[in-house]
Amino acid sequence: MSLFDQINLNNVPKHIAIIMDGNGRWAKKQGEFRLFGHNAGVETIRETLKAAEEIGVKYLTLYTFSIENWNRPKDEVDGIMELLVQSISNELEDLHAKKVRMWFIGNQSQLSKELQDEMNFAMDKTKNNNNIHLIFALNYSSRWEITNAIKEISKDVKNNKISIDKIDDELISNYLCTKHFPDPELLIRTSGEYRISNFLLWQIAYTELHFTDVLWPEFTNEDLYKAILDYQNRERRFGKITEQL
Ligand code: IPE
Ligand code: IPE
Ligand code: MG
Repeated sequence: MSLFDQINLNNVPKHIAIIMDGNGRWAKKQGEFRLFGHNAGVETIRETLKAAEEIGVKYLTLYTFSIENWNRPKDEVDGIMELLVQSISNELEDLHAKKVRMWFIGNQSQLSKELQDEMNFAMDKTKNNNNIHLIFALNYSSRWEITNAIKEISKDVKNNKISIDKIDDELISNYLCTKHFPDPELLIRTSGEYRISNFLLWQIAYTELHFTDVLWPEFTNEDLYKAILDYQNRERRFGKITEQL
């Protein structure tokens, strides 16, 4: 039986988040510059989105550029920013035709006007689509997001918009960039690194984690199916014991 046929379509994660890692190492293996790997990574996004949508995933969140990634060599950062502008503009029509709703989460204000314009245009154009939500975490880091939320909550307490005893899980979630999305059931990280790198720290409290050695540009639909099958073989207890489930 193929991997696809083994998937239980009634238990597909609604929300999958991916740390797309390994572009640079993949490029190096081919004797190419790192940007060659980032370019190839865009192709993988296209394929993965298609496979996720076909299988019934409703939210796909992709870690695209972290706030810490600004610390890379300038030519790499410039190349990535250029690639982002180009890719959003090239892919938008096709994504819109496929009824994909696009979102960007992260600190927009530090990005170039050109990139911000592309992002805002894409979000606005696709705002009535509901086939699948494609969320790019771009200039995102979880500690930045949580810090921001704390500042906003404090302001609202100070201005008597909320009282301290109203602060709970749900309220905090509503101050995060992800307030419109359910928490991911599955997080995938490629490239054999076993860390979270400042991604969705709050949201992954009960997420199943799947790590693969595959580098992002060579990640295939089969690798996605493997991750989903791995997820489907887990027992999600949420603090309870097996007998209670
Ligand atoms: C992930 O690939 C893409 C970004 C972080 C922008 P990397 O560029 O981190 O690739 P490696 O980890 O160096 O191989
Ligand atoms: C995480 O990858 C960020 C993205 C995939 C955008 P990194 O390559 O930046 O992570 P570290 O530095 O290895 O932890
Ligand atoms: Mg990396």
